[in-house]
Amino acid sequence: MTPSKPPQRPADCGDEPISNPSKNPPFSRILNSRLKRRHVLIGGLSAAVAVLFSRPVLKSLLSDPPAKLGFNPIPVSDADTLIVPDGYRAQPLIPWGEPISGTYPVYDLDNSGEDQGMQIGQHHDGMHFFPIEGQSPDAGSSQDGLLVVNHEYIEPRFLHSAAVGQPLGAGDVPVNAAGRRDPDQVLKEMNAHGISIVRISASDNGTWSVVMDPRNRRLTAVTPMEVSGPVRGADVLKTRYSRDGTRTRGTLNNCSNGVTPWNTYLFCEENWAAYFRNGDPDPARHPREQTRYGVRTERSRYSWDQATSDDDLYRRFDVSSRGDGPEEDYRNEANGFGWVVEVNPFDPNDVPKKRTALGRFAHEGVIFQPAIPGQPVVCYSGDDARFEYIYKYVSTDPYDPATAAGDLLDRGRLYVARFNEDGTGVWLPLVFGEGTLTPENGFASQADVLVNTRTAADAVGATPMDRPEWGAVDPNSREVYFTLTNNTDRTEEQVDAANPRSRNTWGHIIRWRESGNNPTATEFEWDLFVLAGSPRNSRQPDGTPLTDSNLFAAPDGLWFDRDSRLWIQTDISEGLLNRGEYAQFGNNQMVVADPETGDIRRFLTGPIGQEITGVTMTPDQRTLFVNVQHPGSTTTADEFAAGRLTSGWPHLPAHRYPRSATVVITKLDGGVIGT
Ligand code: FEO
Ligand code: CA
Ligand code: CA
Ligand code: CA
Repeated sequence: MTPSKPPQRPADCGDEPISNPSKNPPFSRILNSRLKRRHVLIGGLSAAVAVLFSRPVLKSLLSDPPAKLGFNPIPVSDADTLIVPDGYRAQPLIPWGEPISGTYPVYDLDNSGEDQGMQIGQHHDGMHFFPIEGQSPDAGSSQDGLLVVNHEYIEPRFLHSAAVGQPLGAGDVPVNAAGRRDPDQVLKEMNAHGISIVRISASDNGTWSVVMDPRNRRLTAVTPMEVSGPVRGADVLKTRYSRDGTRTRGTLNNCSNGVTPWNTYLFCEENWAAYFRNGDPDPARHPREQTRYGVRTERSRYSWDQATSDDDLYRRFDVSSRGDGPEEDYRNEANGFGWVVEVNPFDPNDVPKKRTALGRFAHEGVIFQPAIPGQPVVCYSGDDARFEYIYKYVSTDPYDPATAAGDLLDRGRLYVARFNEDGTGVWLPLVFGEGTLTPENGFASQADVLVNTRTAADAVGATPMDRPEWGAVDPNSREVYFTLTNNTDRTEEQVDAANPRSRNTWGHIIRWRESGNNPTATEFEWDLFVLAGSPRNSRQPDGTPLTDSNLFAAPDGLWFDRDSRLWIQTDISEGLLNRGEYAQFGNNQMVVADPETGDIRRFLTGPIGQEITGVTMTPDQRTLFVNVQHPGSTTTADEFAAGRLTSGWPHLPAHRYPRSATVVITKLDGGVIGT
């Protein structure tokens, strides 16, 4: 086995290169950038942003709300340990490889691909704690529940005993002399992706552990799934596997998540495109449903299509067309990915459903407005790539708590956001036959619009954003917040009010309120909540720079607890962590904000090489779960070969490698987390 160096490997294995080719901004953006230049002339960024920041400070002076945050902020850290404030404790739980189902195979480097399908996946990401009663996403037991966890991607060198001693970097895979892959290694990698559903409970002394339960299961890159909504049965979904275009196999790159008002779990397919390869040498023959999403032309991310097997399970990742029909090749396989997928975690036989009405893109996550009986259900989703968009979905049918189910996500209107320079915004419909989405402009049906959601959003003039990551809805104010993690490719010419920094190294958080605070409104008002970065170039809600107690960069995970504390998690990529001007932020971390007062405090710092991502609480708010993803990813290929890893977290005895894991955090006095 020799290591491979995929030529198209991105700087951060969780991220993807730009695939929005439209260097020509829509006319509205040309106008916007002109207006922006005028802003710059009259006093630069600070003048523009100061106006936007006036609201929360004013609010806090008027209403004098009680403090939501009661802990002492902790300093940044570059130690290989997880640190929480005084008065809190942290317990690692369900590390990658922990057995949860089937024959419960004990974690070992020699575990097979089949074993991995019965164990917790790698690279934990979005998650939710479902109280065991199964009645409501946020009411019921705070000691017993189903924890549902996404696994975003993998670090193959940690998965295989064949990788030991090889000079493998974070995204590299072991290959044979011909550049081919071992099929069981590939199966293990497929099964390390996906979702874990696992029952956990707390003992009397507050220690959490896995409970054997028939509902424990893994959904992976090989699990059969149904296609639901307007794209079900479309020609572009017909494959050797599903000749009527109604099913697909597996899910990929599940980043953030969502929880429906009817108590099901949504997992989102983010950077799926790079898992596929179209080797057709003529780029003109590559369809837009591949090119606009970044399907690779040379090597696929983990070379799964290069397994030494003729099984469709592997071959399907080569989506080159041989020209003799979709039943003879795998040209349409990639069209089964890029969706939001729903599963009922309480039904172990539930077949996951890809909800195509929510659009196809690099879905980071999906978040709901609190549902109102008699009104449509409303949710939002960001497309995490440079210069991509933020979307909103409004169901056609009203919400009825007695009957609400997944079909609310099959019939509705999808919109994409345009952020105007003056702090207003518009939701632009992505509906076939409306506006520019007509046959004259290359759209044949609503299914066509949805499979090509990015192209449709380009056509209606959406605002290209600085990598939309997680969103969060304040359950009390209904305001919506989104992290824009960074975009170092934005030029001065491309700066606009919603993405106000060229070469946006540090990221920011935008928020909006729907017109009349009506979730179904097609207009909104927005402002910038915080500009992340060093004291020199950041801005807190009160207009002052971030300080030692809350300095952060690359905001990614975002979540509101029921008291409206806003939890913000960071993902400085492993290529940048603890280097140069990124050193001041230390290891990736979590801060928490009170949006009413603008107070932001550092609550948690993680070990070396990881990102903090995923956040949920028990209904009583006395147990917090967060994930540590990819500890030790900063280990270089040479260090890996020599067995010198940058992290050993969570420092489990007799284990060779660092392991992604959930962390359970409680307060020593049993109080509400954050107070
Ligand atoms: Fe998977 Fe956008 O982080
Ligand atoms: Ca990441
Ligand atoms: Ca993320
Ligand atoms: Ca990220």
